[in-house]
Amino acid sequence: MSGGSQTDGASTPAFTADWFSRSIPAWKHLFPRVMPRPQRILEIGAFEGRSTCFMLEHILPPDLSGEIHCVDSWAGGVEHGGIAMDAVFDRFRTNVAAMLKRFPQHKVIGHRALSSTALRDLHAKGFAGTFDFVYVDGSHQAADVLEDLVLAFPLLRRGGVVICDDYIWQRQRPGEEDVLDTPKIAIDSFTTIFRRRLRLLDWHSTYQVAFQKTVA
Ligand SMILES: C[S@@+](CC[C@H](N)C(=O)[O-])C[C@H]1O[C@@H](n2cnc3c(N)ncnc32)[C@H](O)[C@@H]1O
Repeated sequence: MSGGSQTDGASTPAFTADWFSRSIPAWKHLFPRVMPRPQRILEIGAFEGRSTCFMLEHILPPDLSGEIHCVDSWAGGVEHGGIAMDAVFDRFRTNVAAMLKRFPQHKVIGHRALSSTALRDLHAKGFAGTFDFVYVDGSHQAADVLEDLVLAFPLLRRGGVVICDDYIWQRQRPGEEDVLDTPKIAIDSFTTIFRRRLRLLDWHSTYQVAFQKTVA
């Protein structure tokens, strides 16, 4: 992995949390139809690398080189209080290193920073219009999610796909929801305001929203 010190991986990835497996059937349905061979992926929110490892194995093309840029502060969001995030970052590096031994044609580039900084850096480095797929799964605060979408969208090429996780996520008990503490209002606002530049994809998950960029 670049973007952090190299770690020799154990042969099999190890995870302590699973927020991703529920999405696998829908991803396996969507990708072959809409985005069969994404070669450059941007992931906002990688945690221990569970979704990163899945993309290395199942989403990047097996016969071509590919790369995943993982943007994460590895400081946790407001919902990650009490989690030792430096240990999470170590597990991310170990898990990804293990997977890259199986898929040496691919690269994972870690960007350990707030997404608001890292995404602007990607613009400054000339990545606008170069990503095939963006997975948005970082902060769940509405203002952060909106900023992630506004900054990530121009990094995507025409025809590129965005999947937003945690569409219906909320921390508060029913009846006490704080709408600004949820991704939904940001995802709805973005897809409404940008609707002439994207098309919402037919999607088989209530927990995620997917759309395709229709402009250059
Ligand atoms: C839900 S986890 C990602 C899970 C991962 N995609 C998976 O499926 O296994 C969210 C991650 O976003 C990161 N994060 C939260 N707010 C962030 C921000 N403003 N900038 C960058 N990363 C952030 C956290 O450190 C955490 O690792």
